[in-house]
Amino acid sequence: MEVLQAIQGRRSVRRFQARPVEREILERLIEAACWAPSGGNAQTWHFVVITEPERIRHIKAVSPGLLGDPPAVIALCQDMEAARRKGGELGGTLAVMDSAMAAQNILLAAYDAGLGSCVIASFHKGAVGRLLRLPAGMEPVLLVSVGWPEQMPSPPPRRRDVVSFEVYGGEG
Ligand SMILES: Cc1cc2nc3c(=O)[nH]c(=O)nc-3n(C[C@H](O)[C@H](O)[C@H](O)COP(=O)(O)O)c2cc1C
Repeated sequence: MEVLQAIQGRRSVRRFQARPVEREILERLIEAACWAPSGGNAQTWHFVVITEPERIRHIKAVSPGLLGDPPAVIALCQDMEAARRKGGELGGTLAVMDSAMAAQNILLAAYDAGLGSCVIASFHKGAVGRLLRLPAGMEPVLLVSVGWPEQMPSPPPRRRDVVSFEVYGGEG
């Protein structure tokens, strides 16, 4: 699949079939995540793949942004203590950005595999951290729901008035 085609075709999917996602495919998504860029190549991330329906149910209960019933959820976590130890305040900011980079890789790899996915920021970090038994310093930054799409949403419109050339407002 061409990269631009994947970037444009990917949608946030919030309705999933009951069918599970094979572990080998989930591992491919994590492989894609691990190839994301990270500030200073810090790679302070950790990815928790959740497929147990009961655990997903508990995560859903503390995640208003997690819609539908995905058969898998990936929690993108960061060792924020290690990130700040390495890079101070900037290190913490970079760690959050790194998770976003890894998330996009997961979304695109999922789309390439025919899966639907949705990135989720609206969840209770403390509760999810406890449910996943994250060690001290490790924080969940984003969740990604993953599953076979029940329906593919139509693309929400994109703004086009978001670019300047050379200087703000410039047309080059
Ligand atoms: C940082 C971030 C946080 C998001 N959080 C949520 C969320 O909590 N729940 C949700 O359903 N969608 C969430 N989304 C998905 C956006 O709503 C979605 O990307 C946007 O509406 C554009 O639709 P598209 O992804 O299909 O292009 C989030 C997206 C981003 C980038």
